[in-house]
Amino acid sequence: MKRVTKAVFPVAGLGTRFLPATKSIPKEIMTLVDRPLIQYAIDEARAAGITEFIFVTSRGKSALEDYFDMAPELEASLQSKGKTELLDALGSTYMDSGAIAYVRQHKPLGLGHAVWCARRLIGDEPFAVILPDDVIAAERPCLKQMVEAHSETGGCMVATMEVPKDQTSSYGILDVAQNGGSIAHVKGMVEKPAPGTEPSNLAVIGRYILTPSVLDNLNSMKNGAGGEIQLTDAIADEIASGRDVFGLKFEGRRFDCGSKSGFLRATVAFGLDRADLKEDLKHYLSDLVASGELDA
Ligand code: UTP
Repeated sequence: MKRVTKAVFPVAGLGTRFLPATKSIPKEIMTLVDRPLIQYAIDEARAAGITEFIFVTSRGKSALEDYFDMAPELEASLQSKGKTELLDALGSTYMDSGAIAYVRQHKPLGLGHAVWCARRLIGDEPFAVILPDDVIAAERPCLKQMVEAHSETGGCMVATMEVPKDQTSSYGILDVAQNGGSIAHVKGMVEKPAPGTEPSNLAVIGRYILTPSVLDNLNSMKNGAGGEIQLTDAIADEIASGRDVFGLKFEGRRFDCGSKSGFLRATVAFGLDRADLKEDLKHYLSDLVASGELDA
């Protein structure tokens, strides 16, 4: 089986839940502690062995391209002031020449359509998809867990986690043959099921390993939930064609940074995880609890 070395980062959405900020700032550039969301996604991909990074962008996302470019004036200034630590911090923003590619999605027609836009760059091999607004804190990076599991199973694989029943209508939901163990064989998938119709409480999270046949399924451009071309539907077509789809119950903690409350939670959690911020943040939070302000 061919190794997974390409990852698609769909970043062409409008990010309306963060308006007005996202009128001019791409959601993926918004900062979790001191790094933009996209940096966490790229680091996770690198840790999983990804060497080719495909961005599906749209109008107004040029800040993303600049972020991965050289910054000669900034570097010269840091160099002349001997700020080597800050120069080192820029290291992870550099990409090997030719390792990063951008394609445009001209209209936000849905996640499935965004992935389809990258089809020529993907070619005929399995590929990963990472949604940068799902940030996953994990000892072993989530995509690495998936690549390892996928090398055993083949087929398509989605990251999955249990969500409360009353939230299933916000996710793609899996219908699984057996809900034991860390890898579930998927019988069906439904995007944003109406409350009460969900086949399980196993939600699809923004990490995928897909076979190129999913791109063929997307050729038909079927409108799904919310009138969008859904990636979930194209993966469900794989099952209908008799091909394997698996759900990996990854180890780690997922933050929905596409929502305001998820972003705030992630900021606290990642702040507490940082040696240089932990003590200060802990004091602030315990003072806040002690003050009774939270009970108001
Ligand atoms: P979301 O459902 O979070 O949509 O997309 P959004 O536009 O980013 O944000 P809201 O809901 O308006 O606040 C999930 C992922 O799919 C990408 C987004 O960029 C995000 O990474 N996406 C979505 C596209 O690239 N194109 C689309 O047409 C839709």
